[in-house]
Amino acid sequence: MKKVITYGTYDLFHEGHYNLLKNAKSLGDYLIVGVTSDYFDRLRGKFNVRESLMQRIENVRATGFADEIIVEEYFGQKIDDIRKFNIDIFTVGSDWKGYFDYLQEYCEVHYLPRTDGISSTQIRNSNTLKLGIIGNEKILDRLLDECTFVTGIEVVGAFTDVKGSDSEYRSKKFNSLKQYDSIEALIDSTDAIYINLPLSERDLIIDKVLEGKRHVLTEFPFSTSVIKTKELLNKAKDNNLILMEGLKTAYAPAFTKMIAIAKSGQIGKLLNVEANFTQVLGEELSNQIRIAGGSVLSLGAYPLLAIFKLLGFNYKKLDFISYKQNGVDILSKINLIYEDSMGSATIAINAKAEGDMVVSGSKGYIYVPAPWWKTEYFELRFEDANKNQKYFYKFEGEGLRYELIEFQKCINDGVESFLMSHSDILEEVKVLEAYTNEHNVTIIV
Ligand code: CTP
Repeated sequence: MKKVITYGTYDLFHEGHYNLLKNAKSLGDYLIVGVTSDYFDRLRGKFNVRESLMQRIENVRATGFADEIIVEEYFGQKIDDIRKFNIDIFTVGSDWKGYFDYLQEYCEVHYLPRTDGISSTQIRNSNTLKLGIIGNEKILDRLLDECTFVTGIEVVGAFTDVKGSDSEYRSKKFNSLKQYDSIEALIDSTDAIYINLPLSERDLIIDKVLEGKRHVLTEFPFSTSVIKTKELLNKAKDNNLILMEGLKTAYAPAFTKMIAIAKSGQIGKLLNVEANFTQVLGEELSNQIRIAGGSVLSLGAYPLLAIFKLLGFNYKKLDFISYKQNGVDILSKINLIYEDSMGSATIAINAKAEGDMVVSGSKGYIYVPAPWWKTEYFELRFEDANKNQKYFYKFEGEGLRYELIEFQKCINDGVESFLMSHSDILEEVKVLEAYTNEHNVTIIV
């Protein structure tokens, strides 16, 4: 019996996929199809596959050509599979011509003609998300760079003349964007808006964009008003709009895996979370204070996200300690006490400590080295060091591409993100509002 194997993503199944599978099957008697896992696709630079792995497997199964379907999860798996399944012929489309010649050492390699004029990328691009930007801050350069890694998002232009915005800042990249002279004009030309404005102006503009019936991705923190936040989240929900906070850690692969592993009981009952995020901002200090305020408002969202994801929202006590300079909290601690666990954060915008995170459990702990908020690596550690485990998940570029992909996915699927849910946003704002209202805050000067 002649065994054939082929691999692919098979996203948004199209005629080209059908022809390929049909031709692959006709090369032998038994066809194995390897469908790439989401993680492997991201690892090899394919970031915005639309359909889930199960759906893509179903796409292949429905053709009736595959005798067996497997999942491709790592580089080098093709060699393992060819040996394991005793494969005679490896085949893929001619767009890969030459690329897989190294497999000739293990079996026959056959490149099949590719169907012209169709691809998953082309289908994804046919309903491009038109993104507008409101604001004028340095971080926008990074956003523009990261957008280039996400197919299906087109940045159409910007509106920068907003109160509190950095009117001085004009990068070459940003200047090349079409400049709109009103928010309304920008809304008219877009499907969604990325808002990067000082905290004081943020909720006002989010409201305006939601009124204009456009999806919103906003810089964090969301706001310092619980009432306003509830109002905005409800407005988005009532109008079937996606309103997401761009806290990049929430969308990072290693962070989401770390949370899932901790919640699965690997280190026992979760007892304590300690997360630190400290910066010495130097020349950027005044800018940061202008945009977001002191340490709690500008950085608190990061550790709060970790503490809430791990311990939940049901804390019994919340307090803060702040060291202030010229009325601004430069270094702060946030403590959350739960019925049977605790969480604490040290954050600073002009002081330095190790920026790591430790999640303690009854059986062991998770150590996430600095910078934990954009980590690609963490360890599970136990009393018996032989049981320790190391985990690696690639963190690409500045990480903004993960939140852009999630934003795009939520808009396409019409569902709010569970990675940074409306409840996550609301609970973050509750803490920030308590701090702003000086509730349980001890000040050291
Ligand atoms: N394929 C083909 N003809 C096309 C598109 C794809 O023969 N028009 C083949 C590829 O060569 C590969 C298999 O189908 O052997 C699965 O390809 P996949 O990467 O899933 O599809 P693409 O449409 O090329 O996806 P993308 O645009 O995301 O790269």
